Amino acid sequence: MSTPRPVLVVDFGAQYAQLIARRVREAKVYSEIVPHTMSVAEMLAKNPAAIVLSGGPASVYAPDAPRIDAGMFDAGVPVFGICYGFQAMAQALGGTVAKTGNREYGGTPLHTRPEAGVLLRDLPDDLPVWMSHGDCVTEAPAGFTVTAESAGAPVAAFEDLAGRRAGVQFHPEVGHTAHGQEMLTRFLYDIAGIEPTWTSENIIDEQVARIREQVGDKEVICGLSGGVDSAVAAALVHKAVGDQLTCVFVDHGLLRAGEAEQVEKDYVAATGIKLKVVDAQERFLGALAGVTDPEQKRKIIGREFIRVFEAAAREIAAHGDVEFLVQGTLYPDVVESGGGAGTANIKSHHNVGGLPEDLKFALVEPLRTLFKDEVRTLGLQLGLPEAMVWRHPFPGPGLAIRIIGAVDEERLAVLRKADLIARQELSAAGLDRGVWQFPVVLLADVRSVGVQGDGRSYGHPVVLRPVSSEDAMTADWSRLPYEVIARISTRITNEVAEVNRVVLDVTSKPPGTIEWE
Ligand code: XMP
Repeated sequence: MSTPRPVLVVDFGAQYAQLIARRVREAKVYSEIVPHTMSVAEMLAKNPAAIVLSGGPASVYAPDAPRIDAGMFDAGVPVFGICYGFQAMAQALGGTVAKTGNREYGGTPLHTRPEAGVLLRDLPDDLPVWMSHGDCVTEAPAGFTVTAESAGAPVAAFEDLAGRRAGVQFHPEVGHTAHGQEMLTRFLYDIAGIEPTWTSENIIDEQVARIREQVGDKEVICGLSGGVDSAVAAALVHKAVGDQLTCVFVDHGLLRAGEAEQVEKDYVAATGIKLKVVDAQERFLGALAGVTDPEQKRKIIGREFIRVFEAAAREIAAHGDVEFLVQGTLYPDVVESGGGAGTANIKSHHNVGGLPEDLKFALVEPLRTLFKDEVRTLGLQLGLPEAMVWRHPFPGPGLAIRIIGAVDEERLAVLRKADLIARQELSAAGLDRGVWQFPVVLLADVRSVGVQGDGRSYGHPVVLRPVSSEDAMTADWSRLPYEVIARISTRITNEVAEVNRVVLDVTSKPPGTIEWE
């Protein structure tokens, strides 16, 4: 099975392209993001099923505002313009875009026309939509029907069904637009005539076929971190080539309670994967002894990880013909690193680019076209443990960067207990999926006075750092219910003897990062 014809989402440089591409995938249609600098000929060479022009600068009159080559519209490919893409499309096709200076920003009422075409058919006459524009389209291009208006946009949506083209001034991809996903879906199915075939079964079949083709009868290795990406990538490769795959799990002793067991027992039981566990806890703790500087910690962990992984890889390679290494690179990494072919930037110390020449592997990256939510769906489909599939992101250097001060076994044990309580209470409150990440941080070099039982205590504080985020680039502190925070606090101070104070971090990112180190 080959990759389906893509819906190309043309990125005009704002934050919207990835979100649109995800929404298209939610409609079970394969999408790819391309830069607006790509020529129309190159876009057409990808044989697109449709083209979506995304949001971008506020105005087509903005200095250096990117234009659309009108040739795009001669090729007969269905086109959907959104926000800036809508204005640029109107302009390219001979409509009028007026520089009104009338801004509409945020939730805005949209009035649909009775002859509402296909996108807005049978939707309420008045709809709340998300707007973000200065200029507006005042006259639709010839052949287009105007299907909606708002106070600041006399032409807020238009369609040319015969030409399979449509556009909207607002953002259908954001949750604040009522029925937005339905509009996008109608464009894809009813205007562009695309079939919804991008399902997890098809993705798995396609990837399995590709992996078999790439790997042939050679051996493959994969480093498991305990996170969902490497777990799903390995499971896919295992489905494709079975025991030609050997996984390596380096237990650096910096994982949270239960996580090493999850990999060594539950994951292996669920997949039947051949796993080599390297217990390197002493080695990592030895190398970290007395180190307090965060960057130094990261460097040491990265260095040790590569050494341990390399030794394991050599042992495995000694028995077989290992040519390939699996990486759990996701689509956003590919897009952010320029989207080109070849190796995407691999984050942190999981980058094994530092392996010596005689251990150079070709990469197998079965998640390269996928978003995180798709990876999770695949994980469930492949039968992975739910706890692993839904695990919050966790940094490679693990608890070492959540202990402020030097890392040792005792401190790790304290933090593990506190962290487990926080995770248990978050889950019990049914809030796991409402939170992006929930670091618990031990201020190991700080003590404060407390009173516990009959006596004075002089213990350590822990910081609760629950955050909400879309992509970890920016974040806000999660407004967890007070009762949940209270339960976590009470349990930690009761059950973890070394901790006598629990504080809540109420800093957004920026200025704070998610992790404390
Ligand atoms: P910050 O703390 O920079 O974190 O806001 C952003 C995201 O990256 C994770 N993180 C790391 N992940 N190696 C990793 O693999 C690291 O050294 C590292 N440092 C931070 C962090 O948990 C958050 O999801």
